[in-house]
Amino acid sequence: MKRKDYYYHLAKKKGYKSRAAFKLIQINQRFYIFKKGFVVLDLGSSPGGWSQVAKEEVGDEGRVIGVDLNPMHVKGVEFIRGDIFSEDIVGKIKEKVDEVDVVISDMAPKISGVQSWDHARSMELAERAFEISRIFLKDGGHMVVKVFQGDMLHGFKKKLEKEFDLVKVHKPKASTPSSSETYVICKRYKRQV
Ligand SMILES: C[S@@+](CC[C@H](N)C(=O)[O-])C[C@H]1O[C@@H](n2cnc3c(N)ncnc32)[C@H](O)[C@@H]1O
Repeated sequence: MKRKDYYYHLAKKKGYKSRAAFKLIQINQRFYIFKKGFVVLDLGSSPGGWSQVAKEEVGDEGRVIGVDLNPMHVKGVEFIRGDIFSEDIVGKIKEKVDEVDVVISDMAPKISGVQSWDHARSMELAERAFEISRIFLKDGGHMVVKVFQGDMLHGFKKKLEKEFDLVKVHKPKASTPSSSETYVICKRYKRQV
């Protein structure tokens, strides 16, 4: 059985809405992102695998707020349907929370197949996830963001290193090896006062 099939079937068996759930589970096992009671903002959350994992980790005392262009229904998870580039998205998030402990972003552009184009679009999404994190992330909070690998990743990482205590680029096992996607894990945000 291929790896893809393995995680696909495992997601079905465990009741996750996507095989992507296992990427976040593996990231969390390695980097300890979540704690009970945390408030989590999940950007690009649909169909909901990451939101399910985050909700399991933060428990009933925590909150998860998903944002996506596409609809999403996950038990116990709040949801905003919208574009993260739209002018009113920050206001819509503010209606729900003032600050969060963790921002996760698994956002991806529509794949064109042209590596440089897909990389550039993915970096725009990652930069926007960082902008939103700077508004909502508590001092000491964490951010996990997907990027497609390419030459702009180095500069992005350097920028993040100025504002987080620890920044690591990591590709979990559940991420298809042939895909250029990887994740930037940022711990302990150093909020400027
Ligand atoms: C790989 S999927 C996320 C899968 C999700 N993490 C899960 O576990 O089920 C990427 C998502 O990013 C969303 N997305 C892409 N661009 C977006 C944007 N500008 N604003 C909001 N969501 C966006 C897409 O609609 C898509 O649902």
